Amino acid sequence: TAEGGEVETATFIVGTEPTFPPFEMTDESGAITGFDIELIKAIAEDQGFEVEIQSIGFDALIPAVQSGNIDIIASGMTITEAREEQVDFSAPYIDAGLAIAVAADNSDVNSVDDLQDLVASVQIGSTGHEKAQELLDAGVLSEVKTFNTVDVVMMELVNGGADVVINDLPVTQAYMVQQPGTIKIAGEKLESESYGFAVRSGNEELLTMIDAGLQNVIEDGTYDEIQSKYFS
Ligand code: ARG
Repeated sequence: TAEGGEVETATFIVGTEPTFPPFEMTDESGAITGFDIELIKAIAEDQGFEVEIQSIGFDALIPAVQSGNIDIIASGMTITEAREEQVDFSAPYIDAGLAIAVAADNSDVNSVDDLQDLVASVQIGSTGHEKAQELLDAGVLSEVKTFNTVDVVMMELVNGGADVVINDLPVTQAYMVQQPGTIKIAGEKLESESYGFAVRSGNEELLTMIDAGLQNVIEDGTYDEIQSKYFS
């Protein structure tokens, strides 16, 4: 401008479903924090943009980025072929995968082969939900109960309303640390998955910044710092 020549900093709205520690959660003060949130903030700082974090239901994130209500999804979202058709993903920023959880005292379920006639609890719209639906369609599971938030998904298992939870392994592990003696992992990791940040299809300008920033924070050690804070 004539006065200062100052360029206005762009602010991008980041959508997340924050019941997914250590990737995204709400702290005591009510602020949304976690690995994904600190990582996207570090990327923003590196690239010179601002972010505003917004809490959104997991199954509403893709529609929200498509309609332009949010700019970026940072929500432990697995890069899948089906989603690639709806949004554009950044480079993968962390590897995770699905696992089966059962009540701590359950000794009957030791692998995916032990799920006959059981009831599963999953987060709506998640890859765990997709996996459970496949097992339902194949006549393995007898019922799939879906919930909007992962705390309720877990509660259903702990309260005996479901026999198994199919959810991302690191999140289930974090729950086991938080609530010792309640649940455990049954068997091996089911699927390997990688998380990416997502933007509206064709939003190349923003995606290029996210990918460049990610590369920079990996190279300068910021990524490692954030990782060791949340995965110790
Ligand atoms: N990784 C899984 C998926 O993409 C679950 C992600 C759930 N994320 C969340 N913030 N609740 O479907």
